[in-house]
Amino acid sequence: MKLISEILTLIFKKGFVKAGYNEKYGIVNLSNRLDLCQYQCNGCLSAAKIYKKSPIDIAHSVVKNIKPNSHFKEISVVKPGFINITLSDDFITDYINDMYKDDKLGCDNEKTPKTIIVDYGGANIAKPLHVGHLRSAIIGESIKRINRFKGHNVTSDVHLGDWGLQMGMVITELKERKPHLPYFDDNYDRHPSEPPLTIDELSDIYPTGSKKAKENTKVMDEARLATAKLQEGHKGYMALWKYIYDISIADLKKNYGKLNVQFDLWKGESDCQSCIPKVVDYLKQCGITEVSNGALIVPVELDTDKKPMPPFMVLKSDGAALYSTTDLTTIYQRIDEYNPDDIIYVVDKRQNLHFEQVFRCARKSNIAKDNLYLKFIGFGTMNGKDGKPFKTRDGGIMRLEDVIKILENGAREKLLAGNENYDNELIDDISIKVGLAALKYSDLSNQFTKDYVFDLERFTNFHGKTGPYIQYSIVRMKSILKKVDVSEWSNHTISNPQSETEMNIMLKLIEFNSTIDIAYRDYSPSKICDYAYEVSTLFNRFYHETRIISEDNKEFKSSWINLLSLGIKVLEKSLWLLGIDSLERM
Ligand code: ARG
Repeated sequence: MKLISEILTLIFKKGFVKAGYNEKYGIVNLSNRLDLCQYQCNGCLSAAKIYKKSPIDIAHSVVKNIKPNSHFKEISVVKPGFINITLSDDFITDYINDMYKDDKLGCDNEKTPKTIIVDYGGANIAKPLHVGHLRSAIIGESIKRINRFKGHNVTSDVHLGDWGLQMGMVITELKERKPHLPYFDDNYDRHPSEPPLTIDELSDIYPTGSKKAKENTKVMDEARLATAKLQEGHKGYMALWKYIYDISIADLKKNYGKLNVQFDLWKGESDCQSCIPKVVDYLKQCGITEVSNGALIVPVELDTDKKPMPPFMVLKSDGAALYSTTDLTTIYQRIDEYNPDDIIYVVDKRQNLHFEQVFRCARKSNIAKDNLYLKFIGFGTMNGKDGKPFKTRDGGIMRLEDVIKILENGAREKLLAGNENYDNELIDDISIKVGLAALKYSDLSNQFTKDYVFDLERFTNFHGKTGPYIQYSIVRMKSILKKVDVSEWSNHTISNPQSETEMNIMLKLIEFNSTIDIAYRDYSPSKICDYAYEVSTLFNRFYHETRIISEDNKEFKSSWINLLSLGIKVLEKSLWLLGIDSLERM
């Protein structure tokens, strides 16, 4: 469906042209003062400067040139030259009914669907998933869903960190603990039937190994050597790597599953290793590489840079590839396999420079042609209440699994305090969905770049602008529908509003498509958070003010019930776009 602002802009552009002005001044926007009017056109103020006339005269002549139209209840000119627009009830009601009938609630797909890859999650194999990865998962999932909803062909890729020094550290520490395992043998040739380690051991082996390596250069050298051997294809290390990879993936799938975050691709840094030599050769052929202190680099600074821009590192002096090399090679492979229009990265903002270098090198080498859009969405750190990165009580990094548990338990306690009549399975299901709603909503309603406080008390507050408040509003609305006879609202028509609140609801509902468009265009799910909150609040007011079930007037009753049903659809879709589950009861 055409957005209301588009419909009105078209009419106003004609008005401007008929009055003798350029059509570009005819843009109509949603009013930011709903108490004064619903939509407004402010173009006369800019036109005045060009045409050297008073804005108010221009406004009057434009309004005179707008044909009488059933869309409007009132068009008024106010000083110094604004045009205020109030829509007619019929127009609003017709629009609402069209939206109600539409599968996508009035939202159109983009005219030309694009192929988009969203790179988010970014978990590391062998290292536990921590709260930083949580933000990437939450934001990325929402960006993916919004883009899919707009009709694009979106592929999500978790892009695992599965090939770095952490593997060498794990191998070295495991060798220390279980030297008898055959994997360390240079002539390794048999697959033992018993597993070398469990996921629980692994979650202890990495932090221990990494600590030792950081404290002791000998251990670090050994870990580096083990990494190099693995990367050269040492058979035993490869078998060990494969084993660790498999158990880690199973664990990650379980945890991302709990978060309700789904990836189409489970690729990682290791998947591009075989392609690295080809990309390195290509860079050399392009003539853009240089050797600096033995390392192979590509200078990527530009004349316009205000800050120093270090060169892109292709290979270290020992010939090893780096994080930058894998990201560049991954772009190369993605183009080869998917030919995407956009690649969107959702990663900690501290990696901004890394991505800037990768993107510049991709452009300079022409691996990324001009028509490939590369977008970095950087988010701030998840801090504890003390303003420092969120840690466990003993100072370690909080694991994702623990975070989920904390949220779930917090929600469960809160829910049980209000109602003890849950059966066990139900309460489990509800608490996790409510806990995650609290976390995801509060994460997504912030500006991404800001650091963000992990505050459990705030997460388990179900009132005010929170995810659970919206879930709860939906449950309340549904409970009203459950009390009425379906035949009373099967006509699926909504009539003109009877009260101010009802009018405000309708005005809010017809903004759904434009809200989604803004959230989509600006990569800002927070617009959907705000919107869903406003819709919920209005409906809460509505069913407090209006006796829906006991209403005698059949037309009103049926219309209200249909309005509720549309409201539920809009809220459920909004939550879905945020990656939040709706509930049947709470
Ligand atoms: N594994 C990385 C980390 O934990 C994040 C990966 C982000 N994505 C990428 N294409 N580099 O920091």
